Amino acid sequence: MSSINLAVLLVLGLLLVTAQQSMQMSLRNPTAEIETSNCKIAFLRLGLVFTSDNNEKALLDSGLYEADSENPSVDIAGRRFHIGTLNNSLIIYVKTGSHSVNVATAVQILLLRFRTSGIIFFGSSGSLDEKILVPGDVAVPKAVAFTGVWDWKKFRSEEGKLVFGDFNYPENGENLLGTVEYQKINMFSPHEAAKEVFWLPITTSWYNAATEALKVCQSQKCYSGKCLPGKPKVVFGSKGSTSDFYVRNKAYGDFLNDNFGATTADTASASVALTSLSNEKLFVVFQGVSNVAGETNSESGISYLASYNAFLAATKFINSIPTPRLACE
Ligand SMILES: *[C@@H]1O[C@H](CO)[C@@H](O)[C@H](O)[C@H]1NC(C)=O
Repeated sequence: MSSINLAVLLVLGLLLVTAQQSMQMSLRNPTAEIETSNCKIAFLRLGLVFTSDNNEKALLDSGLYEADSENPSVDIAGRRFHIGTLNNSLIIYVKTGSHSVNVATAVQILLLRFRTSGIIFFGSSGSLDEKILVPGDVAVPKAVAFTGVWDWKKFRSEEGKLVFGDFNYPENGENLLGTVEYQKINMFSPHEAAKEVFWLPITTSWYNAATEALKVCQSQKCYSGKCLPGKPKVVFGSKGSTSDFYVRNKAYGDFLNDNFGATTADTASASVALTSLSNEKLFVVFQGVSNVAGETNSESGISYLASYNAFLAATKFINSIPTPRLACE
């Protein structure tokens, strides 16, 4: 055999060994360890979930996150699950990407593959009521709903809450787009038959814990020279509207506010809620307000501040939850 052939064989052999090792690594991931250990890892982690790079930047910029030295992350279905501590609380976090399918998929994987005591979501939202929420504020909703699940009726149908003709400009009138009826969504859960729901309630005990933990909250007012006009606040008990489209339209924002009493619109919260409820897991949602629906987009500094303030609220909440121990066998 020529020396070149030998070299090629050697390289191939090495590649095979490496591939096998990395497979063993992934099989020996911390999930399995957590699932099968008797007291080896006697803690449940809190699952921290967010959608965007902007959110992850807030987490990393804070300097409060420390990756686990042995198993810093696990990749599943193209998502990276990061294992570590946030200001000394044990967490596992995932950046889900946007829109309901991606958010729900990542949350479901997190809940299936890792032992967590619950899900904490933080993200951005648009205010639907400037009198209550302005950019930089954080909303802690009591309930969220999917408001993008439509039964689109025929022209001149008598049914449907959203009547396009009401929005004709400059005058109301008939509109070929007709009307839209809002649909409930199927909620599956382990101990009950599937049911149709609209509002998805935030876990009461965690909602109450959040109001307690955030009584005094240090929000940030400025970021790289951009400052909020007022002192940012945390607003409790709001209702959040979620859809796969982000609401930048004032007329539609007003409609959501008038008809559903929603004060925020986002593209993720209801997915986190539905997935957590289906798994009978505790969850809570922190929405940083990055803009007011229909107003000129806020500058990127302001939307980062919204993300950062929502992150700070989530951290404060996480630090207030005692880390539950797994029962040892
Ligand atoms: C991190 O933990 C320390 C000590 O418990 C606390 O004083 C601080 O406020 C926490 N930081 C944040 C951002 O919550």
